[in-house]
Amino acid sequence: MSKTYKNFIGGKRVPAQSGKTYENRSPADTSDIVGIFPYSDASDVKLAVEAAKKAYETWRKVPAPKRGEIMRKAAELMVARKEAIAKIMTREMGKVLKETRGDVQEGIDTAFYAFGESRRLHGQTVPSELPNKTCMVFHQPVGVWGIISPWNFPMAIPTWKIFPALTTGNTVVFKPATDTPATAGEFVEILAEAGVPDGVVNIVYGPGKAVGEAIINDPDIRGVSFTGSSLVGKHIAEVCGKTLKRCSLELGGKNAQIVMEDADLGLALEGVLWGAFGTTGQRCTATSRLILHESIHDEFVARLADRARALKVGDGLDEANEMGPCVSEAQRKSIHNYVEIGIKEGAKLVCGGQALTDAAHKKGWFYAPTIFSDVLPDMMIAKEEIFGPVLSVLKCKDINEAVRILNNTVYGLSSAVYTRDINRAFRAIDDIEAGITYINAPTIGAECHLPFGGVKETGNGHREGGWTAFDIFSELKTVYIDYSGGLQKAQIDTWD
Ligand code: UN1
Repeated sequence: MSKTYKNFIGGKRVPAQSGKTYENRSPADTSDIVGIFPYSDASDVKLAVEAAKKAYETWRKVPAPKRGEIMRKAAELMVARKEAIAKIMTREMGKVLKETRGDVQEGIDTAFYAFGESRRLHGQTVPSELPNKTCMVFHQPVGVWGIISPWNFPMAIPTWKIFPALTTGNTVVFKPATDTPATAGEFVEILAEAGVPDGVVNIVYGPGKAVGEAIINDPDIRGVSFTGSSLVGKHIAEVCGKTLKRCSLELGGKNAQIVMEDADLGLALEGVLWGAFGTTGQRCTATSRLILHESIHDEFVARLADRARALKVGDGLDEANEMGPCVSEAQRKSIHNYVEIGIKEGAKLVCGGQALTDAAHKKGWFYAPTIFSDVLPDMMIAKEEIFGPVLSVLKCKDINEAVRILNNTVYGLSSAVYTRDINRAFRAIDDIEAGITYINAPTIGAECHLPFGGVKETGNGHREGGWTAFDIFSELKTVYIDYSGGLQKAQIDTWD
């Protein structure tokens, strides 16, 4: 059964002005139409921005704890609908139900966190250098935000952005990924039911070229929050740079797990299996490289390959399956293209390396869990983001070499080190160029109340998640109050 979704602009459910629509199909079974969605363009964005601009005038005045109450109601609705949303998400995105439940849970956690934060939004009070004068700092909203989200976390990522944006008093125009519009639609319905006033949240479905471009170019959009590829992120930063729009970017990763010879090898094996093949490797935090101490290399790779071959790949709606399909045909092609490059570069294909097209898998975009060994640090498959179930294994002689290999990429999101040696662990924490480092845990699985983001070409210095997300969506207002009754001159008046 497919449902028809509409844009949500100024509190009204409306089709694209052009009347155009597109259908979204399940990547596990391409005969399953998940929904019909508006195929919007710049004219729809214009209406949404106008609505968001108008709503901003009143929303910014609503006390933050009152805004927080709406986040709490949204959280409760998400709890009630968790299972239904997880099913829709598995149908449209492909990942297995256990994971889509986790994705919704991350959204719920984020909503409750925003509810709590709405009673804090702490500023600071600071002494003045002059007598009878005090200084303080307030958070203020920025204005209308463009929210452009990816397909791999259809609930968690929009909530990371939208809950902090709303709690701090901004209004938003939201463009979800074209591959996962249904979860986004359910989320916006929940926000409306929870009591978000008309125009505060607007959703415009459609392609990046039309809808995304219109959002980032609109002069009334004061900030853009984007998660996606570094290529698109650079373009967004350029456009935003022209008018000095605020812009927060969460981009690619080429995350590595290091395993030293003293580690709990069983634990390290479970970690890399989950990190590399969970979500079909389609996380920006996915483990894409495994750096093994040379003394454990051969046996570890053999055991890992046995486990990877045994993974049950299939429709995520079937609870027996452990790994779902790639999100689309284009994604599967791009993954396979990297596998061909790896073979050409001289890496050794240990397992996988092909699309699954047998009777059980022919209806969807399935790909076999793939491992390459004998990968050298400068090969493309060791440096570029693949965003699929492909793991490149490299060898190291010691922890210093392991960290050097790990850092040999333009990205820096997540990283993991398995060792029982505390000195090695802390030295690696110091030297790894990544926004996130796990010790004895895989590269995936960040929690919503901690800063999330990366260094180098993974982002532009912001951290979503936790208290730092509220800084992204706030302007700081510095206030000086002089109650001396006279003119006091900072830097000039002296005490002597
Ligand atoms: C992403 O892949 O874009 O840390 C986000 C994790 C999840 C979020 C991933 N909590 O793997």
